[in-house]
Amino acid sequence: MKFFIDTANLDQIREAYDLGVLDGVTTNPSLMAKEGIKGKDAVLKHYVDICEIAKGGDVSAEVISTDYEGMIREGEELAELHPQIVVKIPMIKDGVKAIRYFSNKGIKTNCTLVFSAGQALLAAKAGATYVSPFIGRLDDISFDGLELIDQIVHIYQEYGYETQVLAASVRHTMHIIKCAELGADVVTTPLQPILDLLKHPLTDSGLAKFLSDAQKFA
Ligand code: E4P
Repeated sequence: MKFFIDTANLDQIREAYDLGVLDGVTTNPSLMAKEGIKGKDAVLKHYVDICEIAKGGDVSAEVISTDYEGMIREGEELAELHPQIVVKIPMIKDGVKAIRYFSNKGIKTNCTLVFSAGQALLAAKAGATYVSPFIGRLDDISFDGLELIDQIVHIYQEYGYETQVLAASVRHTMHIIKCAELGADVVTTPLQPILDLLKHPLTDSGLAKFLSDAQKFA
């Protein structure tokens, strides 16, 4: 399973990359705004900076148009920025048409804001490279986000769709572990849940004991 980091924060992307476990980055307009990036040129430069830190990894950059022509114009500009850019497109009618357009041109896409198996089916049929079901936001409204991952993985396997299931809106380590069990291709998560995977009290106490015993023969 690939690990993407879900942030536009360059320090956090660098930290995850330095850990040696980073396969890519996802961003969205809210995450970009959080970094205080203002103006088109600054936004485009920020995407290039992210690509250069996450060497070789796919970097999702989201269009903000909601009409077909606007999404094509924006997506083409984003795709030309850097070979690692994946055009992130919302699951709306014009978005599906835009995914088909980019898929026919060999440009990678990530279909975002997916909350149902039906939407995931449409994204796969349109040729999306990635589909992003938002599991945390489903949990927030008392739907089982992980059950949606299970459904989509099953449907894609049944029909041999090549679209990769990118579990998004991941909030904690159990989301990551369950996504791995269910066969998600990718999880995208903030830095903290990745770091939380490191933790176990028996690792800490075991290491403390080894280090104190090592003093006996130092
Ligand atoms: C996915 O690509 C989205 O950027 C993201 O995972 C949304 O997560 P949130 O629900 O924590 O905002």
